[in-house]
Amino acid sequence: MNKNLISELNQLLADFHIYYQNTRGFHWNIKGTSFFELHVKFEELYTEALTNIDEIAERILTIGGKPLHTFEDYLATSQISAAKDVSKDRDCVETLVKNIESLISQENKVKDLASDLGDNETEDMMIGLVNLQQKTLWMFNSWLSN
Ligand SMILES: [Fe+2]
Repeated sequence: MNKNLISELNQLLADFHIYYQNTRGFHWNIKGTSFFELHVKFEELYTEALTNIDEIAERILTIGGKPLHTFEDYLATSQISAAKDVSKDRDCVETLVKNIESLISQENKVKDLASDLGDNETEDMMIGLVNLQQKTLWMFNSWLSN
């Protein structure tokens, strides 16, 4: 068990929870002519985040750590801020792009650390997450460019 790796995974877990709740808030609060497409897209993202959150927490347990599991800890730990009362389509998407970039940065940190420790499975998990989120960034950046 490597405490540093567990701590960085817990950082990612906390970040993911705030990102999750941000996507839920946007799903509920979105207004304007993009309502239908974004309402559905945000649901897709938070549903995907739920699966990823569970995988990260269970990886922490698998390697002998303890996942953070209270809102209190998530708020105190997260590098991503809670977005409140955001409803304009562009503001929602721009916030999500920043949130996803932040997740990718933390995933790359975990990936490099896992690689140094010879933990190929955690490294592989991080590569999978980055791969998935880079694609989401491409789509959102295309949406923003029109
Ligand atoms: Fe819904």
